[in-house]
Amino acid sequence: METVEYDITLTVNDREVKSRVLAETTLLDFLRNTHHIEVKRGCDHGDCGACTVILDDTAVLSCLTSVMQARGKKIYTAKSLGTWDLLHPIQEAFVKHEALQCGFCTPGMLMTAKSFLDKNPNPTREEIRDAIAGNLCRCTGYQKIVDAIEDASKIIAEVCRTGGTT
Ligand code: FES
Ligand code: FES
Repeated sequence: METVEYDITLTVNDREVKSRVLAETTLLDFLRNTHHIEVKRGCDHGDCGACTVILDDTAVLSCLTSVMQARGKKIYTAKSLGTWDLLHPIQEAFVKHEALQCGFCTPGMLMTAKSFLDKNPNPTREEIRDAIAGNLCRCTGYQKIVDAIEDASKIIAEVCRTGGTT
């Protein structure tokens, strides 16, 4: 059978990327093959949330998303958040609340939290629990993660109140 490849353009962490891909390539494979190994492959079947990225303004499971669906769109991975010197408030809160241990789930957890807080900046703990229901963590239990996201919402509110951006 003839293999058909497609030329695509998309944006990853605000950088335009042009590539030639097979239609069946997942966004997860595409990202990891283009050095975005911060996007983690857990189950590869939509069950763990480790591969979560933001597509335009929505958190998606990159293992269940075709790269063709991302054509012309903006993808954000955990690398888009902060730097070692200047953490994003959500990263800052995860560190403060010790909401990570091995860290494998963390990039996906952060992107779920980012997309969630962008839409719901003042959530209840119940809403936070619902938001991260698809992200599995083997290490921390979820209490610290919920604490971190709740605290992040307050940090972000304060940053916005004082005229900063997140
Ligand atoms: S690797 Fe995508 S949901 Fe588990
Ligand atoms: S910190 Fe290890 S899986 Fe979540």
